[in-house]
Amino acid sequence: MNDTITRDAPAQAVEAPAGQKKVFLKTYGCQMNVYDSQRMSDALAADGYQPTDVIEDADLVLLNTCHIREKAAEKVYSALGRLKQLKEDRAAAGRETIVGVAGCVAQAEGEEIIRRAPVVDLVIGPQTYHRLPQAVRRARGGERIIETDYALEDKFEHLPAPKKASVRARGVTAFLTVQEGCDKFCTFCVVPYTRGSEVSRPVSQIVAEAERLADAGIREVTLLGQNVNAWHGEGPDGREWGLGQLLFRLAEIPGLARLRYTTSHPRDMDDALIAAHRDLPSLMPYLHLPIQSGSDRILKAMNRKHTAADYLRLIERIRAARADIAMSGDFIVGFPGETDADFEATMQLIRDVGYAQAFSFKYSPRPGTPGADMKFHVDEDVKTERLLALQALIAKQQLDFALGLVGSEMDVLIEKPGRNAGQRVGKSPWLQPVIVDEMAGEIGDIVRVRITKAGSNSLFSEPVRAE
Ligand code: SAH
Ligand code: SF4
Ligand code: F3S
Repeated sequence: MNDTITRDAPAQAVEAPAGQKKVFLKTYGCQMNVYDSQRMSDALAADGYQPTDVIEDADLVLLNTCHIREKAAEKVYSALGRLKQLKEDRAAAGRETIVGVAGCVAQAEGEEIIRRAPVVDLVIGPQTYHRLPQAVRRARGGERIIETDYALEDKFEHLPAPKKASVRARGVTAFLTVQEGCDKFCTFCVVPYTRGSEVSRPVSQIVAEAERLADAGIREVTLLGQNVNAWHGEGPDGREWGLGQLLFRLAEIPGLARLRYTTSHPRDMDDALIAAHRDLPSLMPYLHLPIQSGSDRILKAMNRKHTAADYLRLIERIRAARADIAMSGDFIVGFPGETDADFEATMQLIRDVGYAQAFSFKYSPRPGTPGADMKFHVDEDVKTERLLALQALIAKQQLDFALGLVGSEMDVLIEKPGRNAGQRVGKSPWLQPVIVDEMAGEIGDIVRVRITKAGSNSLFSEPVRAE
């Protein structure tokens, strides 16, 4: 998952009738949190809460949090600190404010949040979002609520289906969580503790949701999971399906022109999924496949259960199936015990693969994970130095990849108006923003363009006339 994205759940187009309650929802962390925020927003709307971007107007402030690195939780605590004044000011004006913490910090810290931040009325973990409206009602009644069990019932089954109008108001692309949780226990990672063990949503639920999205005008769906390619389920043919088979099924849905999935684990890339990359034109040629380190010694200490050579061989097989596939990844520098030679192995792996994009982080010890108790923690300034070197290499590869596209033709999905008049912004098959002339097409159209120029963050284009 790309946990660097932080977005607010976009406000819905629907106007709040006078006297209705408002919710301000702030999202930290990965795409799964973005998806969860949308589902929570829909559930709260059914209970009379309209979204607002103005925090002072909010009767309910909900922070959907991330616990992946230290700063993530600290950001939440400082945001909660700032909310104290807001709550007091509103109370002075006779208006009640419920403050809730959801997401992975809520799951990991539980009661500790209420102790450390008295402003908080409600703590709710990711497995119990279907109980959110009821929890908010109880909080309004004066209770302080902590909901962090791993609920037995299926939360998605109990959350209201996304409404057409709110789906389309969010754009022409959408996320769809198909798998949650993780059983892999990499020694640096909190996800198995915050999201629980691996669960796959059933095929029928996923297909029904994808059909509703398509019906609402969504053109591109990104399937989400902490280990999305570990998704499995019983197909309508009675056979056990993996993500590959699921993608084939979703590709049949009229209107869905583009499919993506993230984040995948190298150990779960099976033949059927690789075949989907070969045979499904709507499956975009872009793969986020984190390895974390290029050193076998460190990979072992991380409990990744694969070597650098396994990863390189896998990429070779994927590229043999789909030559134009672009690779993206995640890297951690400064894992305990990482030497200069280990780091150099990571740099060499990056040179060998050639990434179109990658996310990189300094190792951050997470309480309760085995990594935190390991010996030989790396100095902060060494981590910084390694991170800068790695990011410079990735930035160069990203720019080279973009420059290599200049002069070529590609299909672009137009997503939104551009910053300048006469322009719209779309996405390349490789997730790059592309500036297109507004005459090229409407939002939601897929248009053929020729790339005229590449910057490090976007591509510029001219329309290609249909012959
Ligand atoms: N399930 C995904 C990763 C989810 S977390 C996978 O297995 O690839 C997203 C990224 O955050 C990870 O890929 C890793 O690079 C980074 N990350 C996770 N825990 C971290 C930690 N303790 N310190 C620094 N980076 C971390
Ligand atoms: Fe974390 Fe590893 Fe699971 Fe990814 S596979 S969520 S990095 S434990
Ligand atoms: Fe963060 Fe939880 Fe996602 S820890 S990265 S929000 S799964």
